[in-house]
Amino acid sequence: MSQQGSQQSQQQPEPIYLKDYKAPAYLIDHTDLRFELYEEETMVRATLRVRRNPARSGKSPLELHGHESLELCRLSIDGEVLSERDFSRDDELLRIADVPDEFVLECLTRIHPQLNTALEGLYKSDGMFCTQCEAEGFRRITFYPDRPDVMSVFRTTVEADRKLYPVLLSNGNPVESGSADDGRHFVTWDDPFPKPAYLFALVAGDLAVLEDSYITSSGRKVKLQIYGENKDLDKLDHAMLSLKNAMRWDEEVYGREYDLDIYMIVAVDFFNMGAMENKGLNIFNTSCVLASPRTTTDAAFQRVEGVVAHEYFHNWSGNRVTCRDWFQLSLKEGFTVFRDSEFSADMNSRTVKRIEDVSMLRTAQFAEDAGPMAHPVRPESFIEISNFYTLTIYEKGAEVVRMLHTLLGAETFRKGSDLYFERHDGQAVTTDDFVQAMADASGRDFTQFKRWYSQAGTPRVEVSDSWDADKGAYSLTLRQSCPATPGQAEKLPFHMPVAYGLVAQNGVELEAGVLELTDSEQTFTFDDLPEKPVPSLLRGFSAPVKLSYPYSDEQLLLLLKHDGDGFNRWDAGQRIAVNLMQQLIEDHLAGKVLSLPDAMVDSWRAVLSDESLDPAMVAHLLRLPSEAYLAELAEVIQVEAIHAVREFLRKALAAALQPEWLEAYKRCTSDEPYSPDSDSCARRALKNLALGYLLATDEDALLALAEEQFVDADNMTDQQAALSLVVHSGFREAGQRLLDDFHTRWHHEALVMNQWFAIQASDPWPGALERVKTLQEHPLFDAKNPNKLRSLVAAFCAQNPVNFHAQDGSGYRYLADWIITLNKQNPQIAARLLTPLTRWKRYPQAAQQLMTAELKRVLAEPELSKDVYEVVSKSLA
Ligand code: ARG
Ligand code: ZN
Repeated sequence: MSQQGSQQSQQQPEPIYLKDYKAPAYLIDHTDLRFELYEEETMVRATLRVRRNPARSGKSPLELHGHESLELCRLSIDGEVLSERDFSRDDELLRIADVPDEFVLECLTRIHPQLNTALEGLYKSDGMFCTQCEAEGFRRITFYPDRPDVMSVFRTTVEADRKLYPVLLSNGNPVESGSADDGRHFVTWDDPFPKPAYLFALVAGDLAVLEDSYITSSGRKVKLQIYGENKDLDKLDHAMLSLKNAMRWDEEVYGREYDLDIYMIVAVDFFNMGAMENKGLNIFNTSCVLASPRTTTDAAFQRVEGVVAHEYFHNWSGNRVTCRDWFQLSLKEGFTVFRDSEFSADMNSRTVKRIEDVSMLRTAQFAEDAGPMAHPVRPESFIEISNFYTLTIYEKGAEVVRMLHTLLGAETFRKGSDLYFERHDGQAVTTDDFVQAMADASGRDFTQFKRWYSQAGTPRVEVSDSWDADKGAYSLTLRQSCPATPGQAEKLPFHMPVAYGLVAQNGVELEAGVLELTDSEQTFTFDDLPEKPVPSLLRGFSAPVKLSYPYSDEQLLLLLKHDGDGFNRWDAGQRIAVNLMQQLIEDHLAGKVLSLPDAMVDSWRAVLSDESLDPAMVAHLLRLPSEAYLAELAEVIQVEAIHAVREFLRKALAAALQPEWLEAYKRCTSDEPYSPDSDSCARRALKNLALGYLLATDEDALLALAEEQFVDADNMTDQQAALSLVVHSGFREAGQRLLDDFHTRWHHEALVMNQWFAIQASDPWPGALERVKTLQEHPLFDAKNPNKLRSLVAAFCAQNPVNFHAQDGSGYRYLADWIITLNKQNPQIAARLLTPLTRWKRYPQAAQQLMTAELKRVLAEPELSKDVYEVVSKSLA
């Protein structure tokens, strides 16, 4: 074993615990930063006004975080240079034992952004400098108390070559600029709002800008700027419109106004996540800000709108009121996701947005909550915080806030959020503080409700009913439980809102409301009913649980037709399809011949031909549950059987309803110019769903229809749908032809080519791994760019189950090889890509062995990053 190897096995990274939280020993009243950017290195001069925290008694050493890559050039206190004996440096901490109660600390540090492939801290994306400091990236820039409960006023000067970097940005308002020697220049920025270091940002580059302005509700004028590469200047309008809509919405719905004179967004191509809410200077992955009809799909338009709003909303839920420590991450993320999803619901179709959010939650978050990385919305411990930017913190956290909204109603919830913002403005607080504001504003007791923050796992709710015909009394009995998760064997009952309706045989709603379930078992009785109703349960998905009730197919068909809640109509259809598919999977495994029941064809025909329905709703109703959702529901995941059954059903439904699909396709085709409004999106969604079924008939005439759509499309939604459907269909030659054509048209557009990679990586036909390996050699593939890794490697491993789970283990080996490479280069991305391997317990024995062997191979690597170590070790535990 190598030297490093033995060190690694002796010194495994230790978790840190919420219970160990201590307030900071020192506060920073003012932070002055001066950056000198050069091609080889960057010099960072930090001047900090430091003061002992009066809330902490006794004398403590000053502790500053500093990544091992920082080169400390000079350190002084009140002008006196410290010698090596005055401080110690180990791991990520620089300790100065003896400091005055109040002093000025000056620190000169050398860093190398050009060599930074982790994309945390200051790094280069193409030609420009940019930063990503959340969660713990600031310690890669300078020595600092890099924790969110240390909030400071920042003044930042950026100096660089004027030609190469004409645009120099940081947080707040620009206050000074000028020339420096050697063709250099500088700009000084001042941010008056105290903020934690994770909200710091800097950008330097040769950038184009789209400008606009916004008048706030109190009449202040705010300058709006979106920066990007010159060639992308025509793709910034949608983000600008979304920003203005979000600003207006936050004033109207939450009473929140913007606070600086300028709001900037910068698009960068190299980014680990979606976007970042740095105060006054958001930095975005290009994939979450650029949009144009020719190059961007409807889904991507909506994602831009949602992410722009998300980051804007953070200005209050995250920046003005921030997190005390990283265990509270969902304080800002859960609340902000809830806010952005409500915004999108108001801008587009509320029901469709809910269906999309819940599909994702039930597929991916439920799987996370059932896996080895399961954690509460407020985790108790972590090894690497980057691993906790999860669907649980974000999406389940948003569901928890949504439940408070449901329990309180919109008006009282608003009182609670007003109280929260007023009480905690300028503070770093906890999820308890958030719930307390809701409790104080409403007079309600949320002690039990807070278990949603402390207990992991997806609760189960089993419902049974009884009917007393003489009295007209109907009773529902709800029993809740929650499976064990790592470190949590026993769970206590949750406080959950169960929205419901009672539907009569003729479809009329007899009663509706919200039940509050608090005990492990509770019975609710409804009197004076004319007949035994069909219960519509968990309307709008009012709690993030798995609810079961022994529905008959007749009952589900009734709800599918008549439920007054759009979400539950869709869900009734899903339940019918899931029940059938689960039966077919058993049949397939037993070697039986599969067949499609007539009742299913009839109900689909009814939906498909009902022109009174919103086409987006029809598209969702007639999309079969995904392979990933069926996998999540399965006891043991039979990858091949799930795929075979879904394909069988798709083809059977395609054949049985071919004239209706064609009719719907034609009905939804329009020659209006492209617009991303929700009605047009809805028509395209149904049209392209229909095209998918038409292609599934394997008829040449229908291939011609798809090729025609591909060639004639004036927008990326239609063109990409045609491409992906043909590539994934049985028409292999045509697929290749369209791929080549698409490449010729779009090779100069990075985001479009990401889709080209992803469509091939997720192609379920045999040989995908070989094709993916060939594409790795393509000149446009760049393993240093996270978007490219997501488009090719992650798309293959997470969206191509039949090929990834090939029985020879080649898919698993492929992923493990990548993890080993990326562990050094970009640990965050490496840990994230690992997810599909960590779910090994859900697969049959043979697959389990192959998957764990690869995980063990990764674990045996020397110098594992904390990111990868945490995920691999927990998944093998
Ligand atoms: N706060 C950002 C957002 O949700 C995400 C930043 C996450 N960054 C990271 N390195 N984990 O908008
Ligand atoms: Zn966020």
